Amino acid sequence: MRLTGRRLQPPDCVLALSLMVLILWEIPGAWALDNGLAMTPTMGWLHWERFMCNTDCTEEPDSCISENLFMQMADLMDSDGWKEVGYEYLCIDDCWMAPQRDSKGRLQADPKRFPSGIRHLSNYVHSKGLKLGIYADVGKKTCAGYPGSLGHYDIDAETFADWGVDLLKFDGCHCDTLEQLADGYKHMSLSLNKTGRSIVYSCEWPLYMWPFKKPNYTEIRQYCNHWRNFGDIYDSWQSVKSILDWTSSNQRTVVSAAGPGGWNDPDMLVIGNFGLSWDQQITQMALWAIMAAPLFMSNDLRHISLQAKTLLQNKDVIAINQDPLGKQGYLLRKEDNIEVWERPLSELAWAVAVVNLQEIGGPRSYTISLASLGQGVACNPACHITELLPVKTKLGFYEWTSFVKTRINPTGTVLLQLKISQTTF
Ligand code: GLA
Repeated sequence: MRLTGRRLQPPDCVLALSLMVLILWEIPGAWALDNGLAMTPTMGWLHWERFMCNTDCTEEPDSCISENLFMQMADLMDSDGWKEVGYEYLCIDDCWMAPQRDSKGRLQADPKRFPSGIRHLSNYVHSKGLKLGIYADVGKKTCAGYPGSLGHYDIDAETFADWGVDLLKFDGCHCDTLEQLADGYKHMSLSLNKTGRSIVYSCEWPLYMWPFKKPNYTEIRQYCNHWRNFGDIYDSWQSVKSILDWTSSNQRTVVSAAGPGGWNDPDMLVIGNFGLSWDQQITQMALWAIMAAPLFMSNDLRHISLQAKTLLQNKDVIAINQDPLGKQGYLLRKEDNIEVWERPLSELAWAVAVVNLQEIGGPRSYTISLASLGQGVACNPACHITELLPVKTKLGFYEWTSFVKTRINPTGTVLLQLKISQTTF
C-alpha cells in the first residue's frame, strides 16, 4: 500500500529497537588483513572464465593468454567507461608463466606470449590509470601445471613487487597437507607485506579446506583481502545458482566474516558471455551486489553487447556493492521458489533482492511486507523505494506497515533500494 498523505505515528519502541540494532551493526567485524586495501570489494577484470588456459597464439592470436590480450583489455577499460565506474584491477590468471623458473630461481613470463615481460605490461597498465593483478599457487604447481610457489614465497613476492604488481590471486592446487596449505597462505601474506608494496591478496584457502575441515574465517580474514569458498564459476545459470545456494546454506558461517578489508569471493561475473539469459545476468549482478562480492568481470570487452555493458556499468548497483558500511547481505526467506535477500547499507538504507527461481511459466508477482525487512527497521517509520533492476523506477514513499508488490521474470531478480525517511505528513 502506498502512502496517501496520512500522518505517521511510529511506535517509540520500534524506533529504539532500530537504533540498537543499527548501533550493534556498526561495530566493526573481526580484525582484517591490515594492508589498507580492499576497504570495499575489489573491482576489475580477470581472464580465467572467458579465456582459460589458451596458449595457442598461432591458431588463436586474439584469445590466447598473451600481453596483447591484456593490453587490449587495458585500452578498453580506460576508453569504454569501465575504469570510470570502478573496474580498476586488470588481472592475469593461470598460464602466463614459462614452464621453468629463471637461473636465479625467479618466476618468468612465457617469452613468446609476453615478449616484453610483466614489468613492461604493468607500466602499460599503470599508464592507463589501472592496476595489474597476477596469479600464482601456494603448492608445488599451479592448477594448470605451471611452477608453484612452494618454497619460493619470499622471492615470488619480491618479484611481483619489482614488477609493479598490485594484486595477487593465490591458488591452492598441489598442496600435500592442510598445514602446508595454511602455512603457505600465511607465509605469502607476510612476504607480500615485507615487500612494502600495496598488493591486494586474493586467496582460495577456504575452498581447498572445506572438503577436510571447516575453515576458520577469523584467521583467514587476518591474512587475505578476499577468499574463494566454492568451486569455479562456469558460464551457466546452473553454476550461478549453485554459488547462490552454497552461500545461503553457509551464510551463518561466512556472512559475518566479510567487512572492509576482507570479503567472501563468489568468483567472476560472467555477464556479457554466452550462457546466461538477460534475466539471469540481472540476477548475477544484483546478487553479487547483495553479497558484497569482489566484481571481477571475465568477458571479452572487445565484443560485448551494449545491454551487458550497461548492466555491468550500472552505477546504482555498483554503489550497493561498494557500500562503505561493508556488511554482506544474506537470504532472508525462501518460499514457493522465491528468494528474498537483503543487505544493510550505510545511512540506514537497505538493498532487497527478490529472485524468482521458478523455471516454468511467466513473470510472477510477489508482495513483501516492509515490516518483515531488516529485522523490522529497514523501512521504519517510512521509506522511499526505488527499483534499481531490471529497470530503474521510483516506486514511491511507503510506511513501514505497508507492502510493496514486485513482479519477477523466471530466473530473474528485482533489486530494490529502501531509503529511510523521517518525514511525516
Ligand atoms: C582454479 C581456480 C580458478 C582458476 C584455475 C586456473 O581452478 O579456482 O579460478 O584460477 O584454477 O588454473
